[in-house]
Amino acid sequence: MKPNDCFYKIYKPSEYIADYCLAFLKCWEGEPPKGLVKSYFGFEAIPLDKEIIQKEPWLRDLNEQFSIDNIGILTMKPFNSYDWHMDGSRGVCVNMLLSHTQSHCFFGEQRDYINKNFCELEYSPKNFYIFNSQMPHCVFNFNSYRYIFSVEFTAHKDILSYEDVLTWIEKKN
Ligand SMILES: [Fe+2]
Repeated sequence: MKPNDCFYKIYKPSEYIADYCLAFLKCWEGEPPKGLVKSYFGFEAIPLDKEIIQKEPWLRDLNEQFSIDNIGILTMKPFNSYDWHMDGSRGVCVNMLLSHTQSHCFFGEQRDYINKNFCELEYSPKNFYIFNSQMPHCVFNFNSYRYIFSVEFTAHKDILSYEDVLTWIEKKN
């Protein structure tokens, strides 16, 4: 299992969305306000206005190539883990870590009935990553809320794969 089969870091840091989201997250401390969050694939998510895509050149290009359906901030409670899984409908997504104190995102490949090989996506803040949702993955979050900016594409896994987006990115890089 190679890290590039699991995730890929975008060459250019966020020019707008990271700061926009970080300013937004400063509006509260600790638990996100109840009125803002919606349940989303087992995460509590804060939907964002899609218009901000236009202010992030790389994301605007991505949206023109592969239509983006939703963007939002995924929240995760302290001392919470998100179990090993592959996403039900998503083949690929784009993520960026906004804030945490300690959390780990692992991709794994089962070796036998009890052993897995794994690699870690060590998010560098303010950088977008393409994320292979069809490779088994899990998240462990430690002592504070974890916030991730996340992009969902319109096309489901049978139409759009991690490799499709990766091929496009590698040509652009
Ligand atoms: Fe997932």
